Amino acid sequence: MTDNPLIDTAKAVRENAHAPYSNFKVGAALRTASGAIHAGCNVENVAYPEGTCAEAGAIAAMAAAGEYGIAEVAVIADSPAPVPPCGGCRQKLKEFAMDGDVKVTMATMDGAIKVMTVSELLPGAFSADHMEKD
Ligand code: THU
Repeated sequence: MTDNPLIDTAKAVRENAHAPYSNFKVGAALRTASGAIHAGCNVENVAYPEGTCAEAGAIAAMAAAGEYGIAEVAVIADSPAPVPPCGGCRQKLKEFAMDGDVKVTMATMDGAIKVMTVSELLPGAFSADHMEKD
């Protein structure tokens, strides 16, 4: 247990990861404005590109619960340094983050922590504004 319930939830769901190909289990948890916490783990596939990241799983769980605004995120893996979300997951997090200041806490199983905001993780992000010519 830590003093951060999001990290604790991410750590617990990480145990359920299906990662026989990379042997790299990841857990993610996010809190919405309502205070609810949704969690996800990476789910790999023998057809490697079909695997999904922990962050994507947590976002899917949030949407399935009818919620669409991320207030805070935590990601954990058994890595030497805190693991940052992949490029695709940064865009996915940006889609649902309540604003660019939403905190993403990256943690290792050894207790190391790094905190960055969604804007710091994805500067110059593509948004709907880029599709409006006039
Ligand atoms: N992975 C995640 O689930 N989240 C991350 O932030 C980084 C990478 C997963 C994808 C794959 O199942 C495994 O970690 C190795 O890349």
